[in-house]
Amino acid sequence: MKIIIINGPNLNLLGKREPDIYGNRSFEDYFIKLQSQYPSIELFYYQSNVEGYLLNKLHEVGFQYDGIVLNAGAYTHTSVALADAISAIYTPVIEVHISNVFARESFRHHSYIAPKCVGSISGLGLKSYQLAIEYFIKK
Ligand code: DQA
Repeated sequence: MKIIIINGPNLNLLGKREPDIYGNRSFEDYFIKLQSQYPSIELFYYQSNVEGYLLNKLHEVGFQYDGIVLNAGAYTHTSVALADAISAIYTPVIEVHISNVFARESFRHHSYIAPKCVGSISGLGLKSYQLAIEYFIKK
């Protein structure tokens, strides 16, 4: 089973970026722990700050992998192109957000990608990624 976590803009700064909202752990550190928790699956990680690169990655993995865990960061609230890419690919996508986007500014309440995803997880911290992986494994 192949699952990929795709993180969008500014998520390379996890651990340094607004730690009161996003915590003080880097994603690379968390990802090593995740991989060790699921030795029987192939778990990959990709991050980009560039919208087009995120589209390219979705196109590349979206016809081969079993699941995509996508934190599109701020592109969640702006990107019709990401929504179209999720519609185009075959691999199911789960939207995740570390923070509770509904408890924050109103511009974060709308997601272009949510209607194209199998489901969304928001506000459960880094645990959000693990819960999404569990869904794909148990499905
Ligand atoms: C985020 C929430 C977004 O609104 C924000 O732009 C991010 C991170 C989250 O994980 O909580 O960059 O996706």
